[in-house]
Amino acid sequence: MGRLNDKVAIVTGGSRGLGGGAADALCAEGASVVIADVLDDAGQARASDLRAAGHRARYVHLDVREAQSWAALVDGVMATEGRIDGLVNNAGINIPIDIEEATVEQFQAILDVNLIGPFLGIKAVLPAMRKGGGGSIINVASNSTKMALPTTSLYGASKAGIANLTKTTAVHCALRGDNIRVNSIHPGAHLTEMLENPQVQAMPQVRALVDAIPMGRMGLPAEFGKVVVFLASEDSSYMTAAELFTDGGLTVVSFAHPARG
Ligand SMILES: NC(=O)c1ccc[n+]([C@@H]2O[C@H](COP(=O)([O-])OP(=O)(O)OC[C@H]3O[C@@H](n4cnc5c(N)ncnc54)[C@H](O)[C@@H]3O)[C@@H](O)[C@H]2O)c1
Repeated sequence: MGRLNDKVAIVTGGSRGLGGGAADALCAEGASVVIADVLDDAGQARASDLRAAGHRARYVHLDVREAQSWAALVDGVMATEGRIDGLVNNAGINIPIDIEEATVEQFQAILDVNLIGPFLGIKAVLPAMRKGGGGSIINVASNSTKMALPTTSLYGASKAGIANLTKTTAVHCALRGDNIRVNSIHPGAHLTEMLENPQVQAMPQVRALVDAIPMGRMGLPAEFGKVVVFLASEDSSYMTAAELFTDGGLTVVSFAHPARG
């Protein structure tokens, strides 16, 4: 018996990377998983692989920036699966740039995916979760909510926003007696496509960050998936408005900045 048998979870950005790890882990615990992404081929392939392994998974195209796209997704899941127990607001983008180089268009682009997207998702699923007697919303922030680099100017602001939206939503749901818990995960460096991007890899700040991780390595999507399962399951039944840092201890250490000047 899995910890999430009979549960239905949506994972945005689940076609690859950390979201892929979350989809795999939720399926392994018995959940029926809806992978929602704009990367259609990768998402279809992942869902198909999961079904071939005996799990329940399907792919749905979702642009998290569009309220209409969310409404269609939620209507479809309620019509097909009949309930929504979990939402992993994982889809995210990064534009590493400092405050003086950044444009307002870049800031808007990041906010649209990383902050407005989860906002729309939360609003879309809450009625369905309430109808089903409760649920768990897991917002993927970043350890950049506690650590600042010049180049996390836009990204860090968007992630600080989702971390705070997590808490206000958690308190809103708790005070209503909704049995809907809302928590955020704050990953540090993980080995996914976002960090495999050569432009990002080449940044001395990124190299220095990895070297500074007390555990001496990046995290893996499968490790991230285990934390998602914990927050989605009754194992975290008394946790809401919490921040879970999954960063090998990086956030609590101090290190000399390599690129002064
Ligand atoms: N990888 C890391 O080290 C790391 C560290 C801290 C935080 N995070 C956060 O974890 C999350 C996942 O990151 P990742 O490294 O797996 O990134 P990734 O680029 O590998 O995957 C992100 C996914 O989001 C999807 N996506 C992007 N825009 C979308 C949109 N408008 N609508 C729907 N889907 C969209 C992409 O298609 C992709 O599948 C992000 O929120 C990211 O900010 C990652």
